[in-house]
Amino acid sequence: MSDANKPLGTLDEWEDFLKERYPEPQPVQGFQATSPEKKKEQFRNYEADARPSVREFYRLNHQHQTYGFVQQKRKEFLALNRKQMSVWEALDYLNTLVDDSDPDTDLSQLDHLLQTAEQIRNDGHPRWFILTGLIHDLGKILCLYGEPQWAVVGDTFPVGCAWSEKIVFHQFFDSNPDKENSRYQQQLGVYEAGAGLDKVCMSWGHDEYLYHVVKDYLPDEALYMIRYHSFDPAHRDGQYDYFMNDKDRKMFDWVRAFNPYDLYTKSHQKPNLMELRPFYDELIREYFPEQLKF
Ligand SMILES: [Fe+2]
Ligand SMILES: [Fe+2]
Repeated sequence: MSDANKPLGTLDEWEDFLKERYPEPQPVQGFQATSPEKKKEQFRNYEADARPSVREFYRLNHQHQTYGFVQQKRKEFLALNRKQMSVWEALDYLNTLVDDSDPDTDLSQLDHLLQTAEQIRNDGHPRWFILTGLIHDLGKILCLYGEPQWAVVGDTFPVGCAWSEKIVFHQFFDSNPDKENSRYQQQLGVYEAGAGLDKVCMSWGHDEYLYHVVKDYLPDEALYMIRYHSFDPAHRDGQYDYFMNDKDRKMFDWVRAFNPYDLYTKSHQKPNLMELRPFYDELIREYFPEQLKF
């Protein structure tokens, strides 16, 4: 992959930016609505403060994620005929993804997944929820197939219809060829109001890909978490409600329940895989066949 397609030193840079944009909600107790410091934080200009690498990442993402590009990637990857792997094999494979300039963090992709799952487990959530934490980023193996970062990570949005004004770095859509297509620039674009998100094509990335890998094996709540965990314009900013049906709205409560575990549970404590392995072996066996198609 050319470096032009790899502006981020590490995939984590995008998620660090998300954390700056959406700071971890403070506990209600002791919250001072009038705190001047709080206000400053809320009104920070995230775009201006973003690292150049993150800015370049969004520029490429918004320029290249067209309706046509997404159709092409769906054809290319959703036949799921690349590899057959067990969940552990896929986790190990993902873990070979070594980011270029990552001197400070010794945490791997697998560490992030285990930390997410363990936090969900500690909070007493159902077993499928824990399993979702463990696998939710497995779709990032797209990077190992040589896909550019902007087609693997980044907050997702519907394509083939107008871009919400709330999407960060909105101005970069000016270079997206879909800008010239009047149908794609209408609010509903190629879709119908209330048709349900399942009918709506999202910008291409690790969420949609993994959804197709696991869709026969997990409950709907888990599948929504996996498929829409990067759809921040909807689960954070309440956008695109006009495409949702009642099921989507109900299920998005679960997407929102999952989100804090994904974003705010990173700690420097490395999970002990040896200790955790038996629990997760059993959990994986409970839901998945020996091999999954990727
Ligand atoms: Fe993710
Ligand atoms: Fe994640």
